[in-house]
Parts: sequence; C-alpha cells; structure tokens
Amino acid sequence: MDTFTIGDQDFLLNDRPFRILSGAIHYFRVHPDLWADRIRKARLMGLNTIETYVPWNEHSPVPGSFVAEGGLDLGRFLDLVADSGMHAIVRPGPYICAEWDSGGLPAWLFSDPTVGVRSSEPGYLAAVSAYMEAVLALVVPRQISRGGPVIMFQIENEYGAYGSDKAYLQHLVDLSKRLGVDVPLFTCDQPFGTMIEDGSLPELHKTGTFGSRADERLAFLRERQPTGPLMCAEFWNGWFDNWGTHHHTTDAAVSAAELDALLTAGASVNIYMFHGGTNFGFSNGANDKGIYEPTITSYDYDAPLSEDGQPTAKYFAFRDVIAKHFPVPSEVPAARPSLTSSVVSVSGSTPLLSIPPATQLVPGPVPPVEITGHYRGFYLYEVMLQGGGVLSFSEVRDRAQFFLDGVPVGVLSREAGERAVVIPHGGRLQVLLEDQGRVNYGQRIGEAKGLIGPALLNGVEVVDWEIGAVDLKSLDAFRDAALPFPDGHPAHAGVAGPSLSFATFEADGPGDRFLRLDGWTKGNAFINGFNIGRYWSRGPQRTLYVPGPLIREGANELAILELHGSATREVSFAVGPDVGPDEK
Ligand code: GLA
Repeated sequence: MDTFTIGDQDFLLNDRPFRILSGAIHYFRVHPDLWADRIRKARLMGLNTIETYVPWNEHSPVPGSFVAEGGLDLGRFLDLVADSGMHAIVRPGPYICAEWDSGGLPAWLFSDPTVGVRSSEPGYLAAVSAYMEAVLALVVPRQISRGGPVIMFQIENEYGAYGSDKAYLQHLVDLSKRLGVDVPLFTCDQPFGTMIEDGSLPELHKTGTFGSRADERLAFLRERQPTGPLMCAEFWNGWFDNWGTHHHTTDAAVSAAELDALLTAGASVNIYMFHGGTNFGFSNGANDKGIYEPTITSYDYDAPLSEDGQPTAKYFAFRDVIAKHFPVPSEVPAARPSLTSSVVSVSGSTPLLSIPPATQLVPGPVPPVEITGHYRGFYLYEVMLQGGGVLSFSEVRDRAQFFLDGVPVGVLSREAGERAVVIPHGGRLQVLLEDQGRVNYGQRIGEAKGLIGPALLNGVEVVDWEIGAVDLKSLDAFRDAALPFPDGHPAHAGVAGPSLSFATFEADGPGDRFLRLDGWTKGNAFINGFNIGRYWSRGPQRTLYVPGPLIREGANELAILELHGSATREVSFAVGPDVGPDEK
C-alpha cells in the first residue's frame, strides 16, 4: 500500500521526496458531468493533485440531513481524481471561507443563540461531530493508506485569522483521527503576526496562504516551523469579485513568475483556484469589513482554467513554468468551441406576489428569516399598517423591496447602509426580502438575516408580522399561471417585476452557453428549472454561465426572476463569457 508522510524537508510518497503540485477545484461549483473534464485539464497543466473544500451547509441544508448525490457526490469526485492518476487534498472545514455562503457553516446552527461559532462550545462541537462523521465516511476509505487518492486533510481554515481556541482545534484533530483519518493533518494560515501559531497545534503541519512575495512568506513560515516541507496551501493567482466592483485580474506573466519563485524555492503548492467555477443559485458568500459586499455569481477568479473550463493565457504560462521544473504531459486542451449568438424573447410572465408563499404569523417583534426553517434566497414579510410615516429597522439584511397594497414604495439596501423607508399611507405592507449571501469571513459569520428589529413606524414598534419563504425550487405554479404578453407588443415594452418570465428555446443538444441579460435589472435566471445564479445590472459580470449539460436536445426553458423591471423582453446567448471589465 502507498504511504504519504511528512519528512524533515519534504513530503514523502512511499518514502521518496514528493512535491505537491495541486490545483483547487470545488466540486460544488462545477456541474458534476464536467468534473472529469476539469480534473483532466489540471493534469494536462502539469498538476499532480486536486484540492477541494467540503461545504457543510450544502451537504446539510436542514438539521440532521446529509446529501451526497449528484453535484454533491464527493465520493465520486474523489474517485474521478483517482481515475485520472492524481492525488487529492480534502479541506472539510467545518468552516471553509471560500466566498461561499456563510463560509460553509449551516445557518440553522445559529437559530439557537447559545450555539458557538468556530469554538469549543459544546452545542457547536456536537453538530460538527455529526457532520464530520458523515463526511469522513466518504473520505476515510479514499485515503492513500487504503488505496485511494487522498494524501492530506486540513483542520479548520485560516483559523488564526478568527480565533485561538486550541481546545476547538484539538477536538477537530481528535475527532478526525478517531473517525479514521491517518494521512497527514495540516492547517493553513496567512503568514502574518501570530496567525500561523493561533490557527494550529504543535502536532499539525503548517502551511501558508498567499499570492506574492514567495521567498519572504516562505521564510516567515520556516521561522515558525523549523523542519518539514514548505507549502503554499493557497497560491492566490487571481481573486473573487463583488457586485459593483471591477473584475479582478492578475497578469499571467506576473502570476507565473510568482509560481516559478515558489517552485524554485522547493515549495509545494496548491493553486487557488485552478478552476473557480460558479456560485449557482443562492450559494455565494459575502464580505463585511464595515461595508457589506456580496460576492458575484461567477467564481471565475481569473484562474488558469476559466469559469467555463477553458484554458487561458495563465494556464499556458503556468504550464510553461511547471515544465521548467517537472515533466508535463504533451497534450494540451482544445480551445473554446466557437459559438453563435442568438436572441430569445420571453413570452409571458407571472407576478411573483400573485402566488405568495404560505406565511406564518409571528406574534411580537419582527423576526429574522431563519424562523421559516429556510436559509437562503427570498422571503415575504407582511403586516397591516394603520397609517403612513417613516418605517425604520435597526438593520436590513440584505435588501428589502416594500410594497403597499401591491404598489412599490421603496427599497432598502444593506450595502448602502439604508434602514428607513417612507410609507405614504396605511395599508397592507409586503416586504420582499433578499438574503444576498451570508458573510463568509470575520466576526459576522453566524448572523441572522431579514428585517432586524425593532421595526418602528414613526417611533412606535410594529409587531405581529407574517413571514414565509419564497420557494423557487419548483417554478411550476409560476409557469402554469404565466399570462402570455399580448400579441403585437414590441420587445422593448419590457417586463414589470417582481415577476417570473418564461421563454422556450431550441437546442441541438447539450453545450455551454452564456446568458446575457442586457436591459434586465436584478434577479435570478433558471435553465430547465436549474438556478444558474444571480444577475445584476450594476455588474461587473454581464453573462451568466450555463453549463452545457443543463441544455437538452429540443425545447428548453429559460425562466427569469426579475425583481424590478426590464427594458426589454429579449435576452441573448452570447458567443463567450463576459465576467466584466477589469481596471485596466
Ligand atoms: C482565504 C480563504 C479562502 C478564500 C481566499 C480568498 O485564503 O482561506 O477560502 O476565501 O481567502 O479567495
């Protein structure tokens, strides 16, 4: 049986020095039919290992559940890594950051305010244990010691940037070992201050996360860990984007030089990301360092392999660098197939609030959305107001559209710090509330979403709200109720939101597409019922990636949830991706 261990200076594969050349691919950000393709392209770039996080909240959407099928079939993903002759690194969290909703921590955990966050609080540890048992049932049999691809296992994630609860880290280590992990355990932290020490334990192998100045960072790491292989566990060769900012890019030649410096220094590396993929549905996270900044749908990351799995200039620059140090396969991936653009018109729509969700009356103060037992997407609040005036909240998380007797009267946005809206007169108030993504980094992890009370109308508390979660898992009711637009209405007549509009388009068969929503304002798009993510006119991204396997031969359905209004009834399929302008 093969062995993988940590030597004095090197990783040792079967007792021989081994350099980890890893690339991050998050299986949960890639359509499962495309996993093998992305893994193969990593091998062709010269990599020998695939690294992935495991998102607890995705596998466990409600308490007591563990889903590991289809796009969440971690076992199959690891098997495909093995089939390609590569190794695997698994980072199961329980916290993963990753610009992923809530950094992977399930929001249901925090419905009980006594449950701790990333600490040795017993309620949190009990939930972590149940999760780890389920994940490790998939990972343990796939360790190298048992003939599988997994060579390393991460404890927590950059914990030194959050806390220093050693009992928590020890619990994770003991739990992992008890459940059968026998490959080396490691931690990763930013090489600054005391993060490396705070985020680790003496028995764990320490690695760094950084994207530049390799020599300096590795020296810092070496000072704190006198022996053992040096590794950059997240070589940031690109970056993520937030709504309303430019698309972040790094020059391919500059990134390649950084990679060269790492390899020349003898370090092992995990390229973060090799292939970023997509934040489908409502899965994106957010940052909040005083200003709330939700992450966009694309997780292209300016990675070597683009969001749609195509080699970029950076891919070839990295391949050249790796080839200087190690053998690289001679085959190179084909270029993106050429596509033709097409235009599709939505043919009818259903007002979202004409099919309101079932609501429950919650006596007392306005409740957070978690009370519904749903943890992502959209919610509806309702209350009768006896008169008009200024309605305020202590915070709005994250975006609220107000309707008085069905008429829009305002929007409050957390990003803009808004928390007061003028209500013109009394009537039935409906609030369509969007959770734009839970914070995935820093002290706001675990916070509640929704209208954060007290809700005050002219200074007097408004109580007894009704609340329900908007279910977009099935669009059947909206499709069945859709009224066709009257014949002869010009395309630029637009669509009034909030509504769901529908279109049918024909296809020869599966194949990638790029949905362009020029003239539409904000919402989500669905292909054959699959939520391909949020769009927003403020950018940066202009197209949404439609993975080829979602498209079938013959008739396909496009549905668009538009929250505000569109200037057109048309959308287009573009010839390629447009993830937005960079700053150059
Ligand atoms: C840190 C985290 C990652 C990711 C990157 C930024 O290194 O560990 O999960 O959030 O930052 O993309």
